[in-house]
Amino acid sequence: MAAYSINVNGKTRNVDVLPDTPLLWVLRDSLGLVGTKYGCGIAQCGACTVHVNGTAVRSCSLPVSA
Ligand code: FES
Repeated sequence: MAAYSINVNGKTRNVDVLPDTPLLWVLRDSLGLVGTKYGCGIAQCGACTVHVNGTAVRSCSLPVSA
């Protein structure tokens, strides 16, 4: 486990997860933000897309450590 501080929708949130945990599961499971959806899990469908610093990314394939 490792502690991460991330800014989500303008608020700083602290989570304690494994470094390779996909951002999708941090948002959904750690922070309860279930508006971000799981679809394919392999960066193909776009259901999990979020903006990271203004860039659209597939959160299912982006480790929180990145
Ligand atoms: S769940 Fe399909 S692209 Fe992430």
